[in-house]
Amino acid sequence: MEIRKIRLGSLLLPSNVFMAPLAGYTCYPFRMLAYEMGAGLCYTEMVSANALKYKDRATKRLLFTTKEEKIRAVQLLGGIPAVMEQMAASELLEDFDIIDINMGCPVPNVFKSGEGSALMLDQKRASAIIRGCKKRGKVVTIKCRTGIREDQMFTAEFARMCEASGADLITIHGRSRSMMYDGKPYYQEIEQAKAAVSIPVIANGGIFSVEDAEQMMERTGADGVMPARYGLENPFIFSELTGKPCIKTALQIMTEQLQLTSTYYDETFTLAYMRKLAAYMMKKRRGTKRYKERLYKSGSLEEFQEVIELIFAPET
Ligand SMILES: Cc1cc2nc3c(=O)[nH]c(=O)nc-3n(C[C@H](O)[C@H](O)[C@H](O)COP(=O)(O)O)c2cc1C
Repeated sequence: MEIRKIRLGSLLLPSNVFMAPLAGYTCYPFRMLAYEMGAGLCYTEMVSANALKYKDRATKRLLFTTKEEKIRAVQLLGGIPAVMEQMAASELLEDFDIIDINMGCPVPNVFKSGEGSALMLDQKRASAIIRGCKKRGKVVTIKCRTGIREDQMFTAEFARMCEASGADLITIHGRSRSMMYDGKPYYQEIEQAKAAVSIPVIANGGIFSVEDAEQMMERTGADGVMPARYGLENPFIFSELTGKPCIKTALQIMTEQLQLTSTYYDETFTLAYMRKLAAYMMKKRRGTKRYKERLYKSGSLEEFQEVIELIFAPET
């Protein structure tokens, strides 16, 4: 696929291969890894605007970043325009260059609260949210789906509304809400949205190999791609797609992730995150199932390091 930089206002993103926001995974250490591997942009997981408003401590932790993260993008989840505008402008987000608005989350509780993918059903409110978040002049991006049901898709119309409301980029997960996380993405919906707007369109959904990424670009004409679960399974995908050299082994990556995470987060968080990441990264490694139990039982950083040395020992 053609690799190119993407300009968003004064920001120049190093590539058009983005890492998707993933709740429970795209914390600061993982984002740093994705950037190191060549990702052009990597978002925090979704952060609830309502929870932020009440200064919830666990929520504030999701915003952790340092100056080492050169391009900082936060994803906000919320359905009330005034709250979204207030949070987008709040000092809690002052470190972030980019605000992404979650208009794709399919989870029933989120949907019932009028947030996430529910915003695709209420374009007036979605537009008011974009306009409000844009007021501070920051780059605002949108992540949405193709629609609510497979027989009710309106991606191009929604993309047009996003652009007219001031969005700088739109990422389309090529599945409807009803499809949740399964099934082939609807390439044609993304293609039509791309043709309908002049802001960059990033395609997401079902990218589980270099070939999938290439197919996604070819069939949609999108400006870039955004792997999600496969970015956890194989973080090397960013290097494979962009050509950014990487000589690190999976073991080195895991060891560095463990060090970086334990530097900034407590042991409980570090072990929980590292176990989940290891479970993804070991999926396709042969003979590693027998270590799973030890992985989940490891109760200290030292024990965890020992297990990952077994799991991620270079394959012969
Ligand atoms: C565990 C998990 C957590 C996710 N968290 C978020 C999130 O916080 N924000 C968001 O916009 N999408 C989230 N998503 C959706 C992904 O970003 C992506 O759109 C979806 O997984 C489709 O891509 P894939 O088929 O390549 O995995 C999540 C998906 C999964 C599986």
